[in-house]
Amino acid sequence: MSAQNTRVLPYGAEAIAEAARLIAAGQIVAMPTETVYGLAADATDGEAVARIYEAKGRPRFNPLIVHVRDVAQAGEIALIDADAEALAERHWPGPLTLVLPLREGAPIAALVTAGLRTIAIRAPSHPAMRDLLAATGKPLAAPSANASGRISPTRASHVLASLGGRIPLIVDGGPTEHGLESTIVALTGGPPRLLRPGPIDLGLRVEDSAAIESPGQLRSHYAPAKPLRLDAVAARPGEWLLGFGAIPGDATLSASGDLLEAAANLFERLHEAEAAPEPSIAVAPIPDTGLGVAINDRLRRAAA
Ligand code: TXA
Ligand code: MG
Repeated sequence: MSAQNTRVLPYGAEAIAEAARLIAAGQIVAMPTETVYGLAADATDGEAVARIYEAKGRPRFNPLIVHVRDVAQAGEIALIDADAEALAERHWPGPLTLVLPLREGAPIAALVTAGLRTIAIRAPSHPAMRDLLAATGKPLAAPSANASGRISPTRASHVLASLGGRIPLIVDGGPTEHGLESTIVALTGGPPRLLRPGPIDLGLRVEDSAAIESPGQLRSHYAPAKPLRLDAVAARPGEWLLGFGAIPGDATLSASGDLLEAAANLFERLHEAEAAPEPSIAVAPIPDTGLGVAINDRLRRAAA
């Protein structure tokens, strides 16, 4: 895609219709929210979510925030206890993200949560994002709409400068209201924990342990509880082999060697590997280009 292939449409009926059409086709769209611009994909579609990582050039998979219309839609995806409901009633729609237990069987692509059993959810207040949520009827995964390592975008022009040519559409809603990412609070047992300070002050302080959980790498990251061997061309005794391309394995990330498909399948297959009777896991070589960089990052950390 060349830069002129990225359309910028002012927020309005035409822009939302086009954005909804793209989302339904498994594409990604940059949308204004009240915090920062987000890069949205259908959270139920793993390949669409993989496109977010492809466009951002993110070298690793972090769990993403899922945007919903309201508490009722959140309840289809996550377990909402009385504390969570009280916070949501008070602050939604608005810049508060709740990390909650993922509902069993929720139709959310495993790549959205990076394989975790918890999920970050918020109901945004920006009318453009609300219109798109209504038009698609889907939960929308959306991290900030910037290339990896660049600062978060608070104007459509920032998105264009960073992702122009890599995404089909930017909906321009003018400068964002807060200019700062949402507050993130985890309600996954025990007292609420502040994972990321933001526009909403709940009087909580970021704990040292929580600080590394978000946007950090440690506790929030799923890794299978079995030894894992990389660059395996064949299974050794006691190994369950995860294939790719010409190496079929016990299951494959992508038989055709498609990295988008592999990224979309990664966490489901790792859970499958973990549940298999074999005591260890082997993984076929994955090319270290494009989405392969993030796939290999996760596999290396699972192997460590
Ligand atoms: O304001 C915002 O929240 C913006 C706009 C676009 O809505 N979105 C945003 O999303 O900042 P993102 O994906 O860039 O931020 C995700 C943050 C990461 O720091 C991630 O570690 C944390 O949320 N997170 C997501 N799911 C989590 C989980 N299950 N457990 C702990 N942290 C989680
Ligand atoms: Mg971000």
